[in-house]
Amino acid sequence: MRIAVYGSGGREHALVAAFVEHGHEVVAFPGNPGIAKLAKLSQGPFEEIEADLFVVGPEAPLVEGLADLLRGQGKLVVGPGRDGARLEGSKAWMKEVLASANIPTARFRTFSDAESAVEYLGSYEGPYVVKTDGLAAGKGVLVTSRRDEAVRDVVEKLSGEAFGAAGKTVVIEEAMEGPELSLLVLCDGNKGKALSPAQDFKRIYDGDQGPNTGGMGAFSPVPEANQELVDQIMREAIDPLIEEFKRRGIDYRGILYAGLMLTSMGPKVVEFNIRFGDPETQVVVPRVKNDLAQILMEVASGELRTEPEFISEAMVTVVMAAEGYPLSPKMGAVIIGAEDFKRDGVQIFHAGTKRAESGALVVSGGRVLNVTAKGRDIEAARRLAYDSLSQIAFDNMQYRKDIALRASQLETMLSKSGEV
Ligand code: AMP
Ligand code: GLY
Repeated sequence: MRIAVYGSGGREHALVAAFVEHGHEVVAFPGNPGIAKLAKLSQGPFEEIEADLFVVGPEAPLVEGLADLLRGQGKLVVGPGRDGARLEGSKAWMKEVLASANIPTARFRTFSDAESAVEYLGSYEGPYVVKTDGLAAGKGVLVTSRRDEAVRDVVEKLSGEAFGAAGKTVVIEEAMEGPELSLLVLCDGNKGKALSPAQDFKRIYDGDQGPNTGGMGAFSPVPEANQELVDQIMREAIDPLIEEFKRRGIDYRGILYAGLMLTSMGPKVVEFNIRFGDPETQVVVPRVKNDLAQILMEVASGELRTEPEFISEAMVTVVMAAEGYPLSPKMGAVIIGAEDFKRDGVQIFHAGTKRAESGALVVSGGRVLNVTAKGRDIEAARRLAYDSLSQIAFDNMQYRKDIALRASQLETMLSKSGEV
């Protein structure tokens, strides 16, 4: 089939690669230099592309109603309409929906005036979690044990200084503890089917230090997330959410991304996103054995039947980010070694890259490349990813050295004890 893909990041590059591998033809808008090697690039408008299936990568166009526009023209679309997209477009609304569906999540309050927000922060010992209500590209969340820092953050967000209109309402919530898990679920409006779990690394520096980013790396599968846990998350978080949508008349056809924390009280929802995760997609999608385009066609038609199946090998992706990311990424550095990189089991997905007039590949975004490797276990995939990364360079690049490290140690321990 012919598939139109909206987006220009590593997530879209991974989707396009999977579609092309199964013999489909892809037109991407606007795409990137990596995608250009696999697909036609379109200048847009997206809705004028001729295709059998429309897949929208990022959240912003969905929140703005792109899927409604396409469906209005009779097209088959993977991605919710404006109604379901509010789940990511407004954290306050998401929390309200979760509460009415009785889905386990952190206790929370919402505020739009600084005085009562600051007073509330003074009423408990922390740690404090402060979030912008609106979209902030994964960077609108502060987790801190320092009250003065939380107060400063609340004031900056509510004044509109830090995030403009997206920050004019804040959610302050209870801090949760435990390993995080990303579960991408295919949803056809009536039911959900989970893809294999992944784990993302949100902070910029090793050891989960520094500010939050869009994600600095990911791996799949996750040793502590067995089928039993996935079933529990489906039962306690996903199925009730889909039922709640149906009660509200929302026909949600697309990806439901559950960001979870595995707390001592069981899995709790940190957030829901309305799209494939980035960089989770880069490690989850290459592990799907089936023809993903065919499954997504079922999602878009409201008739999801095919059970997704996964290869047993592990995937690890490491994000190479620009100097200054996430606060003020610097553009323009020339990238060496990425374009003709070829090695069995390794894929280099492009994110913030562009072709300069000189023909060189240069940095054009905060997250630049995703070095993605497959191995018989997490340790092997991890080793291959880092070894490959060492052959690619640009000025003052940043990357984390501990992606999937703890998981590979856990995996070794579990296999020694005979559990996997
Ligand atoms: P979000 O954009 O809501 O996914 O938050 C980004 C990151 O902030 C999450 O992946 C967590 O690492 C952290 N975070 C968010 N909410 C909480 C919470 N209630 N307790 C602890 N950490 C949190
Ligand atoms: N990796 C986090 C996200 O896609 O929101």
